[in-house]
Amino acid sequence: WDFHKKILTEQFSLSMIEEETAGAKRRSGIQEVPCAFFVFRAFRTLYIQTERGTRIMEKMEQLYEGKAKKVFRTDNPDVYLVDYKDDATAGNGAKKGTIRGKGVINNRVTNHLMRMLEEKGIPTHYVEELSDRETLVKRVAIVPLEVIVRNVAAGSLAKRLGLEEGTKLKSTVLEYCYKDDALGDPMVNEYHIAAIGAATPEELKTIADYSMKINDILTEYLKDVGIELIDFKLEFGRDKDGKIILADEISPDTCRFWDVKTHAHLDKDLFRRDLGGEEEAYKEVMKRLLGE
Ligand code: TMP
Repeated sequence: WDFHKKILTEQFSLSMIEEETAGAKRRSGIQEVPCAFFVFRAFRTLYIQTERGTRIMEKMEQLYEGKAKKVFRTDNPDVYLVDYKDDATAGNGAKKGTIRGKGVINNRVTNHLMRMLEEKGIPTHYVEELSDRETLVKRVAIVPLEVIVRNVAAGSLAKRLGLEEGTKLKSTVLEYCYKDDALGDPMVNEYHIAAIGAATPEELKTIADYSMKINDILTEYLKDVGIELIDFKLEFGRDKDGKIILADEISPDTCRFWDVKTHAHLDKDLFRRDLGGEEEAYKEVMKRLLGE
């Protein structure tokens, strides 16, 4: 029973088993059935080792599959389970591939950074890391915006403004893109956002304030491990009380991380630009942040 934050996922794939479990719960009138029963009967039952003993949770049906993650419902309506994949895409899905081990790294790096941000006063959706690829998060209604924060010119900004990649910007740039794959996530400004109702002006002010604060915190934090934070993308959501909280991920998929000394890319640009070495780069980020 030493699961230590590991999940035991039973391999039985008979729906009958689920029905039996539900029926047993109903008949007995209790929510928690003895563990031994679940070991032999349960389907997708998670045994979560906590300080106070083993907790049981149901990993229920898949709600959504994105480019890099799958989201599942749980038996707690306010909590979802995110499962990180190794699949990689670029150019709004035009390039597809795999970065071996990426799911594990993005899950663990995101959780590490979200825990750190929470400690510094940024509310996030993070609840609990369950395994190398699986994390419990608060259910939110995603604000349909990608918030991009830039310290140094790179990528689409360097191209659009004719700046050499690596040019330090005189002040931090904040950009918003409307999350819509069919439209190619077009860039929008505050007026568009209010006009289409993607967020209220008050919500957008909160999002902008949090984004700037997150930039300050992350920039300092990463500098200590020899990483320069060039730019990154954030997503926010509304929790059950309508409060804006940080959601999604913060990982080498969604940030440009450059080695402070060599300016070597330690992020998804290696994949986007067919430069190679992405597996090693992702591992290096995890090593620097988590020491492993
Ligand atoms: P860009 O220079 O391509 O606009 O990207 C800016 C930053 O935002 C970069 O760190 C990568 C990240 N990003 C995403 O995470 N997802 C996206 O869909 C896009 C366009 C950028």
